[in-house]
Amino acid sequence: MNQTQRIAIVTGAGRGIGEAIALRFARLGMAVGLLDIQKENVERVKEAVIGEGGAAAAIACDVGSSASVEAAIAAVENAFHGTPLILVNNAGVGGPFHRIDEVSDEEWERIISTNLRSVFLFARHLLPKMKAAYFGRIVNIASVQGLFGASRSSTYVASKHGMIGYTKAIAAEWGPFGITCNAICPGYVDTAMGVQAGEVGDHLRKVLDKSPVKRIAQPDEIAAMAAHLVGPDSGYINGACITLDGGITCHVGIE
Ligand SMILES: NC(=O)c1ccc[n+]([C@@H]2O[C@H](COP(=O)([O-])OP(=O)(O)OC[C@H]3O[C@@H](n4cnc5c(N)ncnc54)[C@H](O)[C@@H]3O)[C@@H](O)[C@H]2O)c1
Repeated sequence: MNQTQRIAIVTGAGRGIGEAIALRFARLGMAVGLLDIQKENVERVKEAVIGEGGAAAAIACDVGSSASVEAAIAAVENAFHGTPLILVNNAGVGGPFHRIDEVSDEEWERIISTNLRSVFLFARHLLPKMKAAYFGRIVNIASVQGLFGASRSSTYVASKHGMIGYTKAIAAEWGPFGITCNAICPGYVDTAMGVQAGEVGDHLRKVLDKSPVKRIAQPDEIAAMAAHLVGPDSGYINGACITLDGGITCHVGIE
């Protein structure tokens, strides 16, 4: 990687999986644009990165807003004097676990916009810049719910299926220009979102009962895969959808 190829954006970097990815990328020597709708959280992560001798910029961004995404990319470019050629679309929202007939227009818009529209918005702005550099690495944090259906999560399920489809479309369309795009599909991860989702209907306990490894993932285990996908040994991995669930989907679905 040259200097420009070491500038990364991680969305939803204020906590959970995004924080773990940002810390790991910074330890690998990347300059990391930490984007989150919760500015105070990315300020905290930035201090942690700088405390370890790394480079980071904390930027408030609503990933579902075109203007906000455009401004955040410009802020990363200004902070590090170069184009971010590594992107992790991690910001996401789940809940509030309604049945389809209970989902409001606002709830549908919020989840689809944060989890799916965001991937399009970043792609539209960054893909031409990656093409100009003949290098780009995009990692989308999807979910096993992008592979299966689930009760009381229909909008989330739709958003993550869409994210996986979009991953493959980017891979097909922009692969000829040195750009790869892949998705990671975690099962349950030990974060605020994972714990909250697991409490619904005692779902996590039921899943762990059937889980081959009998535990949920730690955020850094997802970060390790993200680092591999943007690293020097993964140029041939493109359009892949990597299930990282400890084997829970080896059963018939995860319900
Ligand atoms: N935790 C799990 O069990 C699990 C499982 C599968 C997939 N995932 C996916 O992994 C990703 C990260 O999940 P997590 O568990 O770390 O969640 P989390 O709730 O702990 O963190 C999500 C982060 O995204 C930020 N965010 C939310 N909306 C945003 C917006 N509009 N703009 C910018 N930032 C926004 C939040 O402020 C937060 O910092 C999500 O896409 C989630 O769907 C999580």
